[in-house]
Amino acid sequence: MQKRLVDRFGRVHDYLRISITDRCNLRCVYCMPEEGMEFEPEEHLLTFDEIAETVRVLAGLGVRKLRLTGGEPLVRKNVEELVARLGAIPGIEDIALTTNGIFFASKAERLRAAGLTRINISLDSLREDRFRLITRGGDIRRVLAAIEAAYRVGLDPIKLNVVLMKGINDDEIDDFLKMTFDTNVQVRFIEYMPIGHSDDGWKARYLPLTTVLERAEANGWHAEQSGTVYGNGPSQNYKLAGAVGGFGLIHPVSDHFCQTCNRLRLTADGNIKPCLYWSDEFNVRRYIGDDAALADLFFRALDIKPENHEMAQVLAGESQSHSPTVRRMSQIGG
Ligand code: GTP
Ligand code: 5AD
Ligand code: SF4
Repeated sequence: MQKRLVDRFGRVHDYLRISITDRCNLRCVYCMPEEGMEFEPEEHLLTFDEIAETVRVLAGLGVRKLRLTGGEPLVRKNVEELVARLGAIPGIEDIALTTNGIFFASKAERLRAAGLTRINISLDSLREDRFRLITRGGDIRRVLAAIEAAYRVGLDPIKLNVVLMKGINDDEIDDFLKMTFDTNVQVRFIEYMPIGHSDDGWKARYLPLTTVLERAEANGWHAEQSGTVYGNGPSQNYKLAGAVGGFGLIHPVSDHFCQTCNRLRLTADGNIKPCLYWSDEFNVRRYIGDDAALADLFFRALDIKPENHEMAQVLAGESQSHSPTVRRMSQIGG
């Protein structure tokens, strides 16, 4: 039988999240510093050939689902070509995209035709001005156009990623919930994580997601836990009685979901990250072309994957055997 990617805790890994660039056309406040960052030079990024080779080897080890992330994946040219190549690899069943949506509308048809199966669009506010502030310059109309285009090409239900931040967008929880009554969207409320930046305001902005259920109740909306899972994610899914769409809670900080983790990550510069939060990385580049050595590298990465992220202990300043990553989320891909 084929060897599968099982770690020390029995977790089967069938899902690879691939960051294809660390660049982004926006600078969301929870993700990138205002002044921007030093980006990887082009020649450090894995080429489409290298990504496809890596995925081919992983598909042989049981990986079935892929997600392309960034930075903003659509700032890279010809992503549809990559999607088509990855979709042609035997074993790959699902290719999803996490995007800020700004460049999506004009590429929707090509991406869909190439084999894109699912899309998550970041949308942290429904208000034009506030959206511009959070993204430091983004035009919400382009994101709304992206959502429409995604429907048009049959990518529903669309997931909308909403990172909740106290004092910034928590007064919009009701509006996001309301949206699910008549639109077939899955709104994902996500806890703000302190990743790769020690404390640039995280503490003051962090909000546990119990607030969302409290808001539903305060409005007299009955939230039922929904078994329907679109995708492979860590989200707990709900539906308001009478709603067409649904919502999900992703709470890595207050109640982690690491016991069911099924994912590996590949950074744009070719590093396997067995855990989003930890600093351990394994560069694939010199192993590409030697399938057995590349597979072995993934098994080595899995061997040191922690049982859980231990974010709480790190935040409390307790000593660790591993250290948290210094990468920003834009370099990991969420
Ligand atoms: P699928 O799993 O592909 O269906 O995606 P999803 O809908 O669950 O959501 P997505 O992959 O877009 O993840 C949404 C957000 O959840 C990410 O941007 C992260 O903020 C967070 N997240 C996703 N996976 C993990 C994880 O493994 N660990 C942690 N700590 N956070 C995660
Ligand atoms: N905390 C939680 N989620 C984050 N993302 C980026 N930075 C953070 C953070 N600090 C996620 C958002 C965004 C996706 C690209 O990455 O969900 O939509
Ligand atoms: Fe925003 Fe995503 Fe870009 Fe970060 S990578 S600045 S979350 S659009």
